[in-house]
Amino acid sequence: MHPQDVKIILREKLKAQRDALPVAERKLAADKALGLILQMPEWKRAQTVCLYASFKSELATSGLLESALRAGKKIVLPRVADKNQRCTLHHVANPASLVLSNLGIPEPAATLPTVEPTAVDLFLVPGIGFDREGNRLGHGAGFYDRLLASAQSKGFRLGYGYDFQVVPAIPSESHDIGVDAIATPSEIITVRPR
Ligand SMILES: Nc1ncnc2c1ncn2[C@@H]1O[C@H](COP(=O)(O)OP(=O)(O)O)[C@@H](O)[C@H]1O
Ligand SMILES: [Mg+2]
Repeated sequence: MHPQDVKIILREKLKAQRDALPVAERKLAADKALGLILQMPEWKRAQTVCLYASFKSELATSGLLESALRAGKKIVLPRVADKNQRCTLHHVANPASLVLSNLGIPEPAATLPTVEPTAVDLFLVPGIGFDREGNRLGHGAGFYDRLLASAQSKGFRLGYGYDFQVVPAIPSESHDIGVDAIATPSEIITVRPR
């Protein structure tokens, strides 16, 4: 089967699994993942972190946003201009001030100052699935493949998701960019030391 077809099937399956998670378990899972990430040397030393606002049934990122803010880190968030474009990174001094994009995703306003991807010390990388080799399955638009490519391998790439989102194998194509580690509620999977 073509990698694109395997990706489509995996996306459907993993999204359905995520949507089926009881609400009470979601918060507990996010709290556990947060506890593990706060211990990571890569998190502790990162001064500029590229986070994202979780939406729908994604593992929540609100605790990380609050922790980064409290720790005095510079928080940048991606803004997707439109479906075929790259995203831009914006410095967000107050994560409460996000606006809803036309895709329904909370994003920084376009007027906030932009930040170069190469200036980011740590990227929190969303994914629908990951494998233990660091391969990543996104939503299918390739936004993070483009964003991470433009970061020129600077910045630690930390995948983030529920335990069941780590699967035996994610097909990888030449444009796909993997992660250096994956944080789940029960473990930090180190793929490659940086
Ligand atoms: N660096 C890039 N430059 C141009 N197109 C890219 C790049 N990275 C990914 N794409 C395109 O984005 C589309 C989606 O990529 P895919 O890896 O399937 O999605 P996702 O990473 O969101 O799961 C593909 O058609 C791919 O060619
Ligand atoms: Mg990809």
